[in-house]
Amino acid sequence: MLRVGVCGTDREVVLHGLGGPRGLPEGSDYLVMGHEAVGRVVEIGSDVTDLEPGDLVVPTVRRGCGECVACAVGQADLCYTGRIKERGIVGLHGFLSERVVDSAEHLVKVPRELQAVAPLVESLTTPEKAMRRITNARAHLPDPAVRRALVTGTGPIALLAVLMLRLKDLETVVLARQPADSVQAQLARQTEATYTELADVDLNQPQAKLGGFDIVIEATGAAEMSVAMIAALGQNGVLDLVGGPSDRRPVPIQASSLGAMVGRNLTVQGSVNANPDDWRRAVADLVQMRTRFPGVVDALITHRFDISSFDDRALTRVPGQIKAVVDISE
Ligand code: BGC
Repeated sequence: MLRVGVCGTDREVVLHGLGGPRGLPEGSDYLVMGHEAVGRVVEIGSDVTDLEPGDLVVPTVRRGCGECVACAVGQADLCYTGRIKERGIVGLHGFLSERVVDSAEHLVKVPRELQAVAPLVESLTTPEKAMRRITNARAHLPDPAVRRALVTGTGPIALLAVLMLRLKDLETVVLARQPADSVQAQLARQTEATYTELADVDLNQPQAKLGGFDIVIEATGAAEMSVAMIAALGQNGVLDLVGGPSDRRPVPIQASSLGAMVGRNLTVQGSVNANPDDWRRAVADLVQMRTRFPGVVDALITHRFDISSFDDRALTRVPGQIKAVVDISE
């Protein structure tokens, strides 16, 4: 392994453990973390034909339940039983180690130029899947084209979603807590997205300031934000939640938001993980983003740690941090 990114899910794993009794790999009383990884192939099995030693690869995260039709056709992201395992998250050791073994079908080849930023491929698969599901949800419309898109948040997934939308030349607005002169806001503007501070928007009527959107990707994971964004959708709009709140606290919702869902044919959906197409698109898009928006992708990695000095600093969010990455080897 060369380097591994750290994300909010890793913090959840450390704080609460995920998956209950099936959280730890069979036979282990610990879990090796890390699921946003890039590595170099050092050795292949005799039946492997499409990889060779020296290839740069990004490993996928989820492994199917072995029981349902989705997992049987390589779409474990849509698993019906929920009995999936995820490397570094639930049931299987992750990638924060010097060497790992995996089967070739779970390794995505990446061009050498992506080596430094390749842990972001995994993060980008999340908006790629969201976009695929949004496109499906709009496929029945007489005019499914997206004109205005909104992204909430300025974490790595939010900013990668912005880059993905801007690569498609969509008019994109970012709504988030960070001040307008923050690094995150500046990066968003470098893609020619519009940045709006949350403090300037009345979440009871977001359209008063922002206008209506065809699609919203909600990437803060905040429950109030998730609910409020229903009211940001224009006619036939689609809201996709990618940051799932996990607490049981009830959040109020304006009854008129439910009315708007009916009156405006709105879709509210969530999406998790990604399928092989999303992974391939993430690799291709990351290459293009670096050409089209020079410096922006690389600037998302704000903090680097060496594995020899890895401690909870790598897991602690500090101001100005977007993505922290742990270097394992060169
Ligand atoms: C990962 C996904 C995973 C999800 C749920 C996210 O952080 O990016 O691959 O499916 O957590 O565990």
